[in-house]
Amino acid sequence: MTELITGIGELTTHDDSGERRHDAALVIGDGRILWIGPAAHAPAADRQTDVGGRAVLPGWVDTHTHLVFGGDRSSEFEARMTGQAYAAGGINTTVAATRAASETELVATARSLRHEAETQGTTFLETKTGYGLDVESEARSARAAAQVADVVTFLGAHIVPTGIDRRDYLELVTGPMLAAVLPSVQFIDAFCEQGAFDVEETREVLLAGRAAGLGLRVHGNQLGFSGGVRLAAELGAHSVDHCNYLEPADIDALAASTTVATLLPACDLSTRQPFPPARRLLDAGVSIALATNCNPGTSYTTSMPFCVATAVLQMGLTVGEAVWAATRGAARSLGRDQGADAVGSLVVGGRADLQVLNAPSISHLAYRPGVPLTAGVWKQGVRTTLGG
Ligand code: NIG
Repeated sequence: MTELITGIGELTTHDDSGERRHDAALVIGDGRILWIGPAAHAPAADRQTDVGGRAVLPGWVDTHTHLVFGGDRSSEFEARMTGQAYAAGGINTTVAATRAASETELVATARSLRHEAETQGTTFLETKTGYGLDVESEARSARAAAQVADVVTFLGAHIVPTGIDRRDYLELVTGPMLAAVLPSVQFIDAFCEQGAFDVEETREVLLAGRAAGLGLRVHGNQLGFSGGVRLAAELGAHSVDHCNYLEPADIDALAASTTVATLLPACDLSTRQPFPPARRLLDAGVSIALATNCNPGTSYTTSMPFCVATAVLQMGLTVGEAVWAATRGAARSLGRDQGADAVGSLVVGGRADLQVLNAPSISHLAYRPGVPLTAGVWKQGVRTTLGG
């Protein structure tokens, strides 16, 4: 079954030309893009969908979420809104609730959040473990995550949970816990921050993951100058996430590396942290990604459009830069921006993961902030969301 999509008001492909096209149509079939070209020359297809002058772009690639959890932290959020600071220790609350939940409950919560994300245009999603923090609960979280997400990251090094010696916990994370989650995960991550893990501990965890064949991600420089950003760049991590506190040497290190800086604007608002210096990163030549960081502690949203709007309105990105960061830049941070398995772009032969906005241009994502603009979503060629 092939489908011709016509009536496209503006097509953003993120192919290497970087252009937005105004006369284009596309044909999809077998989950892939089969043809892109001028509408006047479109080949016939089994079915035709006219999107009525709306904008078409790649589906969002959300590369930083923590969807496997139990419980609720709204009272902690309310306290923050009265001036209390965010601290890593709050993670323990979610760890207790996650351990108390069944695997079925964990999958159900994560699935419903994934569905919520899809209705807002997300077609590819990473999620992490990190609220189990013992061997059995992390293995359970990893299995639950693998049922729901496209990519799973092992975050045993989220904090040292209460009731265990620090050294013993690191031995567990780099040994039996890593072995238990390995069948379900592709990346390893560590929270390099005061109250979580220092640079040398983070290095130990990441190197154990690398030796087991995993790609590297780091939570770095979220609450202070933790050293996580420089470590990520030094080790050639795929991504370092948060990046709120950056010294010039951090930016230089990122610019000289292949590490993507993943920025999490919804988290910055919810924790009242300063936004990362996005403009300085871009001007230095650093690749950036945008992600929701959906989790119950610091960023309880699945909305990539909200993150794109915030990045434009508050962080100084252009609309084109923000959309690129939330699609192709995000794909780069997963090592998925090139080749047959690429996501985050619309190219012939690539995956047909795309969305239609109820707007003529991607500029409306920031021009009309907070308005639900998702009019339709195709995931691997199958229409999953029917909007207005
Ligand atoms: O990315 N910073 C570390 N991890 C999560 C928050 C975890 C929590 O507070 O539950 C984050 O913001």
